[in-house]
Amino acid sequence: MEILIINIRLLAGAREVSPLLRGAALAELPGLSDAYLLIEHGSIADYGSMHELAIKLPVLPNNIVDANNGIVFPSWCDSHTHMVFAASREDEFIKKLQGASYDDIAAGGGGILNSARCLNATSEETLYALAAARLQHLALAGTGAVEIKSGYGLSVEGEFKMLRVIKKLRDNSNVLIRSTFLAAHAYPQEFRDDHEGYLRLIIEDMLPVIARENLADYIDVFCEHGFFSAAETDRICKAGIATGLKPKLHVNQLNSIGGIEAGIKNNALSLDHLETLTAHEVQLLARFNGCATLLPTAAFFLRMAYQPARSLIEAGAAVTLASDYNPGSSPSGNMNFVAALSCIQMKMLPEEVINAGTINGAYAMGVEQETGSISIGKTANIILTKPVPSLAYLFYAFGECHIQKVMLKGEWIS
Ligand code: NIG
Ligand code: FE
Repeated sequence: MEILIINIRLLAGAREVSPLLRGAALAELPGLSDAYLLIEHGSIADYGSMHELAIKLPVLPNNIVDANNGIVFPSWCDSHTHMVFAASREDEFIKKLQGASYDDIAAGGGGILNSARCLNATSEETLYALAAARLQHLALAGTGAVEIKSGYGLSVEGEFKMLRVIKKLRDNSNVLIRSTFLAAHAYPQEFRDDHEGYLRLIIEDMLPVIARENLADYIDVFCEHGFFSAAETDRICKAGIATGLKPKLHVNQLNSIGGIEAGIKNNALSLDHLETLTAHEVQLLARFNGCATLLPTAAFFLRMAYQPARSLIEAGAAVTLASDYNPGSSPSGNMNFVAALSCIQMKMLPEEVINAGTINGAYAMGVEQETGSISIGKTANIILTKPVPSLAYLFYAFGECHIQKVMLKGEWIS
């Protein structure tokens, strides 16, 4: 089946070579004005200027869609989410509005442990239905690829249940999905004073089954005071690597405790959060091969200082943007808001936020061969906007929906 999209005001992110973008290259968004795009069998088959259409495509397909001067760019690649969860946590949100801190909530058995209690009491079918509805919502908002973490099970059965739900989402959705094992999200109550016991449970009881049943692509650890130390992070990374899982880590959200060094040493694919960085760590990230993934909606929701995007870009880091969608620190997975917030609060340019949330996001979840840019042969995952006045308008006029249509795997979704 062929679909031809005509009268595209700007085809942004059209590139035949798509390396991980770092430093000044992040602002380079190749594009074509007044363009057409041809889709064949779910993949991008051709694109070009409208004035060469008659020469390049002498026989037009039956299915022609007029973009009406909308902009087309690659669908978002959200490389960091926790979107499988049993219940929202607006009760904690209210407590925080009334003065409680993140630590107060955690100390009272709230936060991640609250989500874990709910998740363990919820059936796999219900969890799947809840997550599938969220995923459909995200797809309509332009997310075409998403990484989803476990980490609200914190028990052998709970973690496996989450990973099975992610696998089922992957089998049943047009959204491209990668799965990350995050049992090291928090110490469960019963292991509060027995870290060794929980580490052994992860390494000896969970990891071998995950490897055997192919239940995850990556391994993650929340490296933070009161959660997992840098030495524990290093140990879990090594055990994950031994079973074929590359690390993608939560580091430097609240404190700088050596997570960046642990990640670099273990050849992480991405180091995520990065709200709290020393000048030395900015330099380490500039030389780091993987992605420096910023989650500005978590900083927004927790009222923290934003990640130093400009310093990281100027130092040469491969800055990436993701939503961190989760019930505790970012109860929204809307990448359009992530992008607007990144411009407004972190002073990233419109071209930079598109690159950071598409091609760099694809790298941060290992799907850069399939998606993240408008390239011949890649999956036809695109966002078609309404006829907005400019690319910048998409992020300047925040909070409005600028999307006209979303195509995933060559199909318009609704
Ligand atoms: O990425 N920081 C650790 N994990 C999540 C928050 C999880 C929660 O509060 O449920 C995050 O922000
Ligand atoms: Fe997270």
